Amino acid sequence: MTKIAVWCRHQKDSIIGIGPEIPWRIPSDTRRFRNLTQGHTLVVGKNTYESFPNRTLPNRKMVVVVAEPGYEVSDKDNHVVITDLNKLNDFTEDLYISSGASIYDACFSSPALMPDIAVDSVYCGNLNPNLSGRPVTVSRSVEVLERSYEALPKQYELDNVKTTVWVKKGASVNRSVIDSICNYLETEGK
Ligand SMILES: NC(=O)c1ccc[n+]([C@@H]2O[C@H](COP(=O)([O-])OP(=O)(O)OC[C@H]3O[C@@H](n4cnc5c(N)ncnc54)[C@H](OP(=O)(O)O)[C@@H]3O)[C@@H](O)[C@H]2O)c1
Repeated sequence: MTKIAVWCRHQKDSIIGIGPEIPWRIPSDTRRFRNLTQGHTLVVGKNTYESFPNRTLPNRKMVVVVAEPGYEVSDKDNHVVITDLNKLNDFTEDLYISSGASIYDACFSSPALMPDIAVDSVYCGNLNPNLSGRPVTVSRSVEVLERSYEALPKQYELDNVKTTVWVKKGASVNRSVIDSICNYLETEGK
């Protein structure tokens, strides 16, 4: 099982959300997320899960992280609930962590949970000025990324978003997962 963190953060302060919203609208960013994750299992925090329309996304299974057991998911066949992040290591399929700051930060700060790969997309444009919620930032996770991961040499740029793939230093990472991510990034926008 390979754990892959996927996010798009703002270049300033590494903001990934304001309240429940992603503070930019970039179709190619939405498409990148869909293409990298469809057919796979997503790990999401409860706030992120509840920000999806009807609390679901097509063609993806989901692991929903909540504090208390008994949370009712929208699709019992495809969504499971965990209350302990350590349970992630019991899954056999690859996990795409696309969570919310609390889950990213918990995973990046735990040697047992650290993602093997991070797909780090950085948006360099302006934030939507009409949102007034709490800024959600992954700056703590980014510090770990810069310290404990190695960036692959190629950077991809599309619509003001720069994407770098990082691999955990010293990890023996499934090459086919890296290749499939890089193959998509290579062809997107063409
Ligand atoms: N730009 C991107 O790439 C991207 C990707 C994903 C999400 N987002 C954005 O991120 C924001 C949401 O992030 P968030 O940090 O506020 O929320 P979140 O991580 O999605 O959800 C937080 C909730 O998850 C549960 N939780 C978190 N860690 C837990 C743990 N270790 N054990 C048990 N339960 C745990 C708790 O639920 P309860 O206590 O309520 O049970 C907690 O209140 C939204 O703006 C969303 O759009 C952006």
